[in-house]
Amino acid sequence: MVMLSPNTPAADQDAQQGGGGPAGGEALAGLPDFTTDSYKDAYSRINAIVLEGEQEAHDNYIALGTLISDQAEELARLARMELKHKKGFTACANNLGVTADMAFAREFFAPLHNNFQQALAEGKVTTCLLIQAILIEAFAISAYHIYIPVADPFARKITEGVVKDEYTHLNYGQEWLKANLETVREELMQANRDNLPLVRRMLEQVAADAAVLHMEQEDLMADFLSCYQETLMEIGLSSREIARMAASALTA
Ligand SMILES: [Fe+2]
Ligand SMILES: [Fe+2]
Repeated sequence: MVMLSPNTPAADQDAQQGGGGPAGGEALAGLPDFTTDSYKDAYSRINAIVLEGEQEAHDNYIALGTLISDQAEELARLARMELKHKKGFTACANNLGVTADMAFAREFFAPLHNNFQQALAEGKVTTCLLIQAILIEAFAISAYHIYIPVADPFARKITEGVVKDEYTHLNYGQEWLKANLETVREELMQANRDNLPLVRRMLEQVAADAAVLHMEQEDLMADFLSCYQETLMEIGLSSREIARMAASALTA
């Protein structure tokens, strides 16, 4: 079971090493040097992806509230949490003296953004929920998990708080899809076929910058897939269906 919580032993261990550590160029054991140009350069794109992701999440939950109108209030509550996350991660960039490359991030998110907008225009709740509440949340959770042990102490605290919220968002989508499984199955499969390959590409595109932050691509992929597959299992899909869905990432 790789559903890591922010309080995994590894994170605790690193927290002891890194908590209140020096802000200067003195590298902490196993941690990158947060002050180098190469770190800041990679951070300007990774942080931008995070900011754009949080903004997209906010907009998507508000949009979902127009499709599931009796849930609009709850969805607006989730959306507010996303803006709070964005604020937190903006502070992380400021703390390191980094300016986020938002143009890069918007392009990075464009394919998934466009698919969400199209599904929204067609009133496809299931597809919208799969994209935002399952795929984007699982992507965020896995990225934050892998980031926490190698983050600077300021960002680590913020990220630990955020990842807990993202689980409640993932859970929201999971429970809705579970309650409606018999009617959403087919659309869910198609939405997975259309969007899982995009997430795989996103994980590949981010790999080089993530490595500079000491986040390994294989760990990101493994954490994402384990989170995604466990969610599909909770929704009530069979292991055969889940394997078929995961295989979409390989073929497209
Ligand atoms: Fe968030
Ligand atoms: Fe979220």
